[in-house]
Amino acid sequence: MIRLAIIGAGSMAGEHAKHFGRLHGVEVVAVCDLDGDRARAFADTYGIPEAYTDLEAMLARDDIDAVSNVTTDAAHKATSLAAIASGKHILCEKPLATNAADAEAMAAAAREAGVINMVNLSYRNAPAIHQARELIAAGALGRIMHVDASYRQSWLVSHAWGRWDQDSQWLWRLSEGHGSKGVLGDVGVHILDFASFPVGDISAVNCKLKCFDKAPDNRIGDYRLDANDSALMRVEFAGGALGTLQATRWATGHHNSLSLSVHGDRGALRVDLDAAKDRLQVCLGEDVHPARWREVTAPDTPSLYRRFIAGIESGHNDQPDFARGAALQRVLDACFVSDAEDRSLALAG
Ligand SMILES: NC(=O)c1ccc[n+]([C@@H]2O[C@H](COP(=O)([O-])OP(=O)(O)OC[C@H]3O[C@@H](n4cnc5c(N)ncnc54)[C@H](O)[C@@H]3O)[C@@H](O)[C@H]2O)c1
Repeated sequence: MIRLAIIGAGSMAGEHAKHFGRLHGVEVVAVCDLDGDRARAFADTYGIPEAYTDLEAMLARDDIDAVSNVTTDAAHKATSLAAIASGKHILCEKPLATNAADAEAMAAAAREAGVINMVNLSYRNAPAIHQARELIAAGALGRIMHVDASYRQSWLVSHAWGRWDQDSQWLWRLSEGHGSKGVLGDVGVHILDFASFPVGDISAVNCKLKCFDKAPDNRIGDYRLDANDSALMRVEFAGGALGTLQATRWATGHHNSLSLSVHGDRGALRVDLDAAKDRLQVCLGEDVHPARWREVTAPDTPSLYRRFIAGIESGHNDQPDFARGAALQRVLDACFVSDAEDRSLALAG
């Protein structure tokens, strides 16, 4: 039995509690949040025996094997380093940190401690993205020339996920002072992974970020609303392809839509997670002439939660690990410099 603790008892932590709670051989034994009422309510909801506000006290328990870190982005580094120092295996939410230097320090600490470490880049749970990677690696599309990928959200417009102007879980995401890197850090990291996991590393970026006015004086209470909410990236992949990647919170008409198109000199593929997580469209071989698309169903993929537990059991660290989280963070950092200095940046290979 693997005994797991959750750090952070907010909205996403509920997903972790549900997924780990369903896994055979895993017991969620504790939760910690700075907010004691929230931690206790969370423990009651998910039947977790112990709730803490003192992280060190929870981590001092040697009957806890692993932690799931679901704190706010700015808290990932300190809380993860504490968990690693106490020898716990760790699944940390994305983005791994708020800058590449911190993410690299976390990856180095996990490597040196020899703990299993993974980042919850949750769209890796979609079987279609694994099938896309396999088709590209097998050469089915030929030489990849052109990529476009979008992550569209609309919680600044739609009330489907709650009120962004009233709820702390949205307000911290809008405020650099609360550790947010805006839409780029929040879901731009997902679309970077969604494109580069199948296509390959990104070697150069040119990025434009925008923060739109959305409240009087762009402030609500303690929250200064200064983090970007739309991001456009022009990228070059190490394999030579060009791509456009975008992320926005202003995609009226979409709740949470990810899509990817990849075009090679012998074929193309499209993934649209709104349509299906386990299916993709392909246009290959002779079909490229009439531009005829066919649907392919991808085999099932174990969830990241399951693969994290399997890694603890086997001692084999699956992907995406902290080193991958740090590599993505280097691209994000380059995007911020590119936007601030209005120029393209090459990334070290
Ligand atoms: N993988 C995904 O698809 C996905 C989806 C949503 C959120 N997330 C990530 O999950 C994390 C949490 O997001 P959320 O929407 O649940 O936010 P949230 O604001 O609802 O919850 C965060 C919780 O962390 C707690 N916290 C902050 N610092 C802490 C500390 N030092 N020790 C203990 N608790 C601490 C807060 O009190 C809060 O209860 C973020 O990093 C976010 O980017 C990932």
